[in-house]
Amino acid sequence: FACDAIRNFSIIAHIDHGKSTLADRLLELTGTIQKKRTGKNEQVLDKLKVERERGITVKAQTASMFHKHEGKMHLLNLIDTPGHVDFAWEVSRSLAACQGALLLVDASQGVQAQSISVFHIAKERGLKIIPVLNKIDLPAAQPELMAAQIETAFGIDPTDILHISAKTGQGVEEVLRAVIERVPPPTGDQNTPLKAFLFDSLYDRYRGVISLISVQGGVIRKGDKISSCHTRKRYDVTEVGIMHPEEIPTNSLYPGQVGYIACNMKESSEAHIGDTLHRLGAPVEPMPGFKPSKAMVYAGVFPVDSSDFPKLEESIKRLTLTDRSITIQRESSSALGQGCRLGFLGTLHMDVFRQRLEDEYDANIIITAPTVPFKIIPTKGSDYFISNPTEFPDIAESMGKVKEVQEPIVSASIIAPEEYFGEITDLCFSHRADKIDHRYLDAGSGIASSRVIITCVMPLSEIVTDFFDQLKSRTSGFASFDYEDAGYQKSDLAKMVFLLNGKPVDALALVVHKSAQDKIGRAWVKKLHKVIPRQLFEVPIQAAIGKKVVARETLSAMRADVTAGLYGGHYERKLKHLENQKEGKRRMKRVGTVELPQEAFFDILKK
Ligand code: GTP
Repeated sequence: FACDAIRNFSIIAHIDHGKSTLADRLLELTGTIQKKRTGKNEQVLDKLKVERERGITVKAQTASMFHKHEGKMHLLNLIDTPGHVDFAWEVSRSLAACQGALLLVDASQGVQAQSISVFHIAKERGLKIIPVLNKIDLPAAQPELMAAQIETAFGIDPTDILHISAKTGQGVEEVLRAVIERVPPPTGDQNTPLKAFLFDSLYDRYRGVISLISVQGGVIRKGDKISSCHTRKRYDVTEVGIMHPEEIPTNSLYPGQVGYIACNMKESSEAHIGDTLHRLGAPVEPMPGFKPSKAMVYAGVFPVDSSDFPKLEESIKRLTLTDRSITIQRESSSALGQGCRLGFLGTLHMDVFRQRLEDEYDANIIITAPTVPFKIIPTKGSDYFISNPTEFPDIAESMGKVKEVQEPIVSASIIAPEEYFGEITDLCFSHRADKIDHRYLDAGSGIASSRVIITCVMPLSEIVTDFFDQLKSRTSGFASFDYEDAGYQKSDLAKMVFLLNGKPVDALALVVHKSAQDKIGRAWVKKLHKVIPRQLFEVPIQAAIGKKVVARETLSAMRADVTAGLYGGHYERKLKHLENQKEGKRRMKRVGTVELPQEAFFDILKK
């Protein structure tokens, strides 16, 4: 295929607006996959089980299609992008391999927070954007109104908008035509040195890492010796092909083409997204914008039964082979024993991983409260990051040593019907939001319920706890939310520890903002009081910041229940009772003098 017969495009959309369904229709229409006779939408591009269960696309997946247009065969490369804020960087990097994007908007829901963020990413990359209103078959669809909204939000001419139903297939032919007619073909010269852009990777149990590449110049062939601009490592190309939608070997890929290569890469972490590959001994200028993914949410993962650690670690290792964006470090806790501290891109990423781990490892796991990476600026020496609250400097320790503490902040945008405006701004304020601003999406359309975009800046740590859930429940699910990284900002933070009978429980430490410390302390202490079983003696449960106790509950003793009424001569019976009690304690953890079943932590820390 010469470049002028190739189109590289993506579908970008807010979650659930129908990306995967449209992708399936395009694959069917071009004969790439068989049409399902069951009438059920089996989405081919969503490969992972969790993705199916949750109906979200986690990993970008790519497929090539052949399509005849006006008598000429075209090669259409569809790059499927993930649909959630945690994966914004995956969207961004897969778009680097495209020249155009279908901006899909649900005709009953209208423009949502992510429609706007993905539009901006695509626009920044200079892509040709084809606006598409989907789900016009729904009785609740309001295509005219939504077309006006698209015009307001993106400055797009309503006459350029395609109206389709990915479900019934109505208008989908038009989509293929628009891709061919409106998206510019890629450029590239096969006589220049090889330059291939690595935009995704898959993991195959037998062949190891499969890298998805877009060829910018030159030709890549099976047997080539190549090298990475980023790592300088050398590889032998053992297989080259296209995704159709499964891998089909072609032995070579030409400029403008998108496909896969297998080379001797062992771990996904070697396939750096955004990297540039070149022929060994013929270096090229790397593609701009290389940015390693960075973990923004951390949590400790422990087995409920501590003797299971090797098995848990094994499962974690196996799962992370396929997901290079998760960072792993061993962690040991006096309360929970041996575990791992994992870093994720966001909370959804963490939830998805948790579910995959539970499926794979087949046992309960304890996950500590999520935390963001805090930046510590010492009075002497260089800045460093802390991703485990237990390592956060104590007030006393840090006197004179720590100049400043900073936390990651994000710029957030929320779209919702205007009647929720008050609720949402209250919620933002209570989550330390700043620079709250808003504008109307349906300005001048004269409809009863207009929708409003609220933007603000807020700490990421406020989002990783309960912001999503609260936003959803306070707006009956009508609000959509998105955010992007906005750097670090000085903050008044402190480490909060929980004490049982005067002894701290390391696994429960939190970093909190001073303004919320009392409220958070009280809530956790109450929860602990509810979950921790009574002991033979009274146990004070305290939340403390430094030496100051901010909340307290007292767990009353239970000894009386077990051996009450066993006096003097009943010594043997008393011993037996205590013996019986021990039986049930084999999996107990000791925190100072307090005995806790590991399950208690599971209850304390579960969502
Ligand atoms: P993520 O991968 O989670 O971002 O979602 P998506 O954008 O890929 O959406 P998906 O294709 O999974 O569709 C979401 C839901 O909308 C599914 O239940 C689809 O069956 C449904 N859907 C998609 N397109 C249409 C359509 O044209 N009409 C109707 N009625 N339903 C549709």
